[in-house]
Amino acid sequence: MNTFEISPFRLEGDVWLILDQTRLPGTEVYLRPETKEDIWHAINTLQVRGAPAIGIAAAYGLWLSVKDFTGSMEEFAKTLQAAKDYLVTARPTAVNLAWALERMWNTWRKSQPCDIITSKDLLFAEAKKIYEEDVAACKAMGEYGLTLLKPGMGILTHCNAGALATSKYGTCLAPIHLGQERGYNFHVFSDETRPLLQGARLTCWELQKSGVDVTLICDNMAASAMKQGKIDAVVVGCDRMAANGDGANKIGTFGVAVLAKEYGIPFYMYVPTSTIDLSTSTGADIHIEERNGEEIHKLWYAEDMAPAGIKTWNPAFDVTDAKYITAVITEKGIVRPPYTENLPKVFK
Ligand code: MRU
Repeated sequence: MNTFEISPFRLEGDVWLILDQTRLPGTEVYLRPETKEDIWHAINTLQVRGAPAIGIAAAYGLWLSVKDFTGSMEEFAKTLQAAKDYLVTARPTAVNLAWALERMWNTWRKSQPCDIITSKDLLFAEAKKIYEEDVAACKAMGEYGLTLLKPGMGILTHCNAGALATSKYGTCLAPIHLGQERGYNFHVFSDETRPLLQGARLTCWELQKSGVDVTLICDNMAASAMKQGKIDAVVVGCDRMAANGDGANKIGTFGVAVLAKEYGIPFYMYVPTSTIDLSTSTGADIHIEERNGEEIHKLWYAEDMAPAGIKTWNPAFDVTDAKYITAVITEKGIVRPPYTENLPKVFK
C-alpha cells in the first residue's frame, strides 16, 4: 500500500467515515458517526485515537451536533456551546481535543454569521480546514524530522504517532514513511505498548503496510535493544506539551526517555503546535487520564490475565521531563532547549 493512503478518516463529502482502530490489525471496518454522541463514544473508547486525530474527529462532531438544527440563532449558539462542553469531556490529556473545539467555536463567534445555514457551512469548512492543516503539518514534521536521521538507523518508537493518529503521515512516523520513499532503509523497533498495544496493533500494521522494516518488541525489551546498540534514535509523539517542554505521551514514554539518556541516544518528541499548551506551566499540571483497570487484566479479545477482582492502577499517559527531550519537532521547525524560552517562538 502507498504509505500516504493510510488515514483514520475517509472524507466522502460531508460524511466522514472513521476507521475503527479497536478492530485493527485484524479487521478494517469504518464507522459512520451521525451524532455528537457517536463521536464522543469513538474518542472515549479509542476507536479513533492519537492527539491530532481526536481533535479532527471532535471538530467534525461539533458540526454534526448542529447539522440538522432548526431554530433561532440564540438557540443555535446554546446548542453549539453545549456540544463543545460535552465533546471536550471524551478524553482529558491530549490538548488537541480542546484546541480543535475552541478553534471551531471562536471561528464561528468571530465571523458572526447572520443565519443558520451560513453558520453550519462555516463550521463544516473549519473542520475540513483543521483536517487539511494537519496533513500539511505532518508533512512538514516529516521533512524536519528526516534531517535528524541517517540512512540505515535503528529507530525505536512507542505507541502509535503515525498516520493512524493524525490525518495522514503521522507525526513521529512521518519521517519514517518519508525515509521509506527515499530509500533510507530504517530498522524500526516498535514497543508493543501495554496495555492497549497501540505499538503492536497499529504501528506495526501501519509500517508493515508501507514496507518499512519493523520489529515488534515487548515494552520491557527496550533497555536490552539499546544496550545491544540496536537503537540510534528514539521518536515519539505527544499529547500535550507544557510551556517548559515537559511532554505527556503514552504511558511508558517517560521510561524510554530515561533509558535513552543513559545510553546517549537522542530522544525526539514530535509535537505539532496544536499539541503545545503554553497555558500549562509544567507537566505536573497536565491531567493524566486514568482508564478502566480491565484494560490491564483482560485482553480485548481473550481471557482474564489476572485474578478476578485484582486491584489495578492504569494511567494512560506519563510525562517526560523536558531535560530528557533532545529536540521537539514541530511543523514550524525544530525546537531545542531551553524550551521555556524557545517554544513560544514557534507561535510568532
Ligand atoms: O491513548 P492513545 O492511543 O490516544 O495515545 C496516543 C499517543 O500517546 C500518541 O503518541 C499521541 O497522541 C501522539 S499522536 C500523533
